[in-house]
Amino acid sequence: MISNKNIIAYINGSYVKLEKAKISILDLGFTNSEMIYDTFRTFNKKVFFLKEHLERLVLSSKYTGINLNLSIKSIKKIIENLLKKNLKFLNKNEDLWCFMRFTRSNSVVIEMRKLNFSNYAPFYKEGLRLHVPKLRRIPPKYLNPQYKNSSSYFTLSLAREEIWKFDRTANAILLDENKNINEGNGFNIFFIKNNKVLTPKSQYVLPGVTREKVIQISKKLNLKVIEKNIKLEDMKKYDECFVTATGWGICSVKSINRKIFYNRNKTKKIQERYSKLVGINIVNQYLNFLNVRK
Ligand SMILES: Cc1ncc(COP(=O)(O)O)c(C=O)c1O
Repeated sequence: MISNKNIIAYINGSYVKLEKAKISILDLGFTNSEMIYDTFRTFNKKVFFLKEHLERLVLSSKYTGINLNLSIKSIKKIIENLLKKNLKFLNKNEDLWCFMRFTRSNSVVIEMRKLNFSNYAPFYKEGLRLHVPKLRRIPPKYLNPQYKNSSSYFTLSLAREEIWKFDRTANAILLDENKNINEGNGFNIFFIKNNKVLTPKSQYVLPGVTREKVIQISKKLNLKVIEKNIKLEDMKKYDECFVTATGWGICSVKSINRKIFYNRNKTKKIQERYSKLVGINIVNQYLNFLNVRK
């Protein structure tokens, strides 16, 4: 089992043990979900794509009016300090997942914990099974999905709960108000047909950093990337499907409702290129934790 004992977090100016870290119950982040955040991970104990995650954090701050109250330089310094304190607690194959959270009550929480690869490992082996819940994604005119805020997450987790009521090992892929495939509880989605890679338009989803990397890699592999509205019935045309996120990596999808995706060939090529980019075989890293107790 992965242990976060001894891991240090940054809370409002202090470095404290993760398990002892606390904020006030009056904090608006807690009472009203008025919180923005972003996350990144280490690959083989090195930080990747921090610039992209910080850029998105700044946009989330502008959109919500929740101040960061720290300069980007200071945030980077805190991350550097936390890495110095925490990397030494990692075992072989382990990596850190870092969360930067900012609330309307001006709380700043920057914490890292070990990425729990065992949560995802079975899906790397079997492929992820997705179902479409009744609940739809909040339309962008009411809550813009392009920025990371806690409220936006709530519909996504309710959708996942809807699926977990009848299938605890599957997950949710939501539709938007126009019945287009949107995104899941913390991941973007892609489909492949021949040399085409298709994904929902960025204005309707969180433009994931992993999503962007996959788009760049696909182009380098001479695959044609198409961002478009994708209907549920379009799925029968597609051969492969995968999801992307900092935590999920690039994970093959086995099925959506009753549609089964039999092929993983091009997804594997994309996973290989991504692995090269981050200097670690991501599929093996997840699979290493297949039989590790959660
Ligand atoms: C709703 C949503 N979509 C997509 C993603 C994937 O984004 P990224 O690749 O930047 O982690 C996330 C990540 O947390 C998410 O919360």
